[in-house]
Amino acid sequence: MIKEAIIPLAGLGTRLLPFSKIIPKELLPLGEKTILEHILDECIDAGISKIILVISKKKEIIKKYFNKDNYLSKYLINKEDKLSLFKLKKLENYNKYIKYVYQNEPKGLGDAIFKCKKVIKNNFFLVILPDDVIIKYNCSKEIIQIHNRYKNSVIASKKVTNKEVSRYGMIKYLKINNNKIYISDLVEKPKKKISSSNFAIIGRYILPKTIFPIIKNTKKGKSSEVQITDAIKKLINKNNSFYGCIFKGSYLDCGTVKGYNKSINKFRIL
Ligand code: G1P
Repeated sequence: MIKEAIIPLAGLGTRLLPFSKIIPKELLPLGEKTILEHILDECIDAGISKIILVISKKKEIIKKYFNKDNYLSKYLINKEDKLSLFKLKKLENYNKYIKYVYQNEPKGLGDAIFKCKKVIKNNFFLVILPDDVIIKYNCSKEIIQIHNRYKNSVIASKKVTNKEVSRYGMIKYLKINNNKIYISDLVEKPKKKISSSNFAIIGRYILPKTIFPIIKNTKKGKSSEVQITDAIKKLINKNNSFYGCIFKGSYLDCGTVKGYNKSINKFRIL
């Protein structure tokens, strides 16, 4: 059973500047809640009971966002503002699931995941990247179902255009069966398209606990950061099987200014 999830939040969010300079990009609004709440709700709906938020000292405001605010609660109670109180309670409720781990230097996604080594207790765990919001169909649920059936690691994937390959980790594969990709190799943000594949890694992974010692021995890669893609590549080379899942939901890229603005339009309240 997949019960634990890691959400890396310690990145500097430079692709979303200027918005992300003071406000963590994950706390930007998307419809009636923040990007991060979309991700948390996906986790909880997929049956996750422990959510590890990897934050940094610079992003402690995320903790504050979910913490109890007695002053505000009292104020709303006095005003008998039930709707606002309900919204406040909903935020506090996430604390039942959340644990915090710190990554104070932006050393990459691989390093962020490695920082959770001691907190992860089960053999497999979920990783969700908050830049990638997936709506209409719960992608975490979908990849957990594949994991439960085949007992292996799974990565969410989607076809991208030739122009977009340099923005993503890209998948090489042996074959595709229905929505399942038999992955043979991965390359992090190649300059040009690799082989005949246009399948990109989208931010949902089911990874084995055995990846921790592998990450420890993974040198800095693309952008001088420890890349999870490079660690997964090593696992694949050691004959660990990884499936790609061409997910059913709609993908919203909330990690760039252009993508975020496009995403907001999908949630526009008329
Ligand atoms: C990360 C991963 C990359 C993946 C992407 C999906 O990159 O390293 O393999 O394709 O997320 O959004 P980042 O967006 O952190 O640069």
